[in-house]
Amino acid sequence: MIPTLEWLPSGVNFLDQTKLPLEETYVLATDYKEVARVIRDMIVRGAMAIGVSGAMGVALGIERSTASTLPALTAEVALICDTLASTRPTAVNLFWGIGKVRDLYNQLAAAQTSIPEIKSQVVTLARRMYDEDIAACKQLGAFGAELLPQKGTVLTHCNAGALAACGYGSALGVIRAAVERGHEIDVLADETRPYLQGARLTAWELMKDGIPTTVLCDNMSAHLMSKGRIQAVIVGADRVAANGDTANKIGTYGVAILAKEHGIPFYVAAPWATVDLATAHGGLIPIEQRDEREVTHSNGKQMTPTGVGIENPAFDVTPARYIAGIITERGVLRSPFEASIAALAQQPSPELVPA
Ligand code: MRU
Repeated sequence: MIPTLEWLPSGVNFLDQTKLPLEETYVLATDYKEVARVIRDMIVRGAMAIGVSGAMGVALGIERSTASTLPALTAEVALICDTLASTRPTAVNLFWGIGKVRDLYNQLAAAQTSIPEIKSQVVTLARRMYDEDIAACKQLGAFGAELLPQKGTVLTHCNAGALAACGYGSALGVIRAAVERGHEIDVLADETRPYLQGARLTAWELMKDGIPTTVLCDNMSAHLMSKGRIQAVIVGADRVAANGDTANKIGTYGVAILAKEHGIPFYVAAPWATVDLATAHGGLIPIEQRDEREVTHSNGKQMTPTGVGIENPAFDVTPARYIAGIITERGVLRSPFEASIAALAQQPSPELVPA
């Protein structure tokens, strides 16, 4: 299992994804502010991983608090949650993770629970969310595996793998599950400029698992699709709106259009926590803008003329009409997505067996 993040008695330990694939080093966050920095600086990244990191950040903040009264602790919890929530705007999992621990805190505080008991319960919840994340990935992987070809090439964009979750992954979880069930699959990983999650992270983790992987520059998939070299596309998601429009790493939208043009199914794999019923359509999803330097520089070397204009939106939105299916741990959603999402939302969440 790839140790993306781990709750330890000394704090939350993160595999430093900025250093991969060349170095496997860790950053230990011993307070919530450090967890916020780790999320903002993308030491941990990927919607599911930052969701659980947000939950652990709140739990760590509460556990380490020296407040001696509930009103004082409640004021601190508000600050902790705001700090963590200000780190990255697009992946709804972050707000879901923070909200789950905050809701438990509010419930316990309203019942005048003792501070030591509150500390113990919020830590237990955050750690359980870690186990449930892996279980959700395995369950959605099992649903999605059947959708992938028995033998063929699957394109993915960005990293929606174990590194983007607590383990196993969403899009890569589906690929892993298919391979475990005997499918002969090889993977094309878009390099995913400018942050290179595909080239650095997807390639690294799939090679560790012995899954045949080839890295492509982002502008090569149309050509390969036209030559019949790609049988399916699968990506993760940072936020799925109530109508199925899906935000994911910048470049995903283009890949979806290309897949449609070539008659190739385009799947999204994401846990239910990524579905945002409060956001009606993709146009309402906030898109993170990141530092220009990610575009202007590569490995510390300037690649563009000084002073040229730069765009760096970190995500785009794929309209639901391009999506063949959204694979969740509750089942596979199909078009019309507004109706299928609303129907699945009514069902009780399944009992997931922690890994
Ligand atoms: O900016 P990142 O690396 O956090 O973006 C990650 C992605 O876009 C993933 O594809 C997405 O989070 C789905 S995997 C949980």
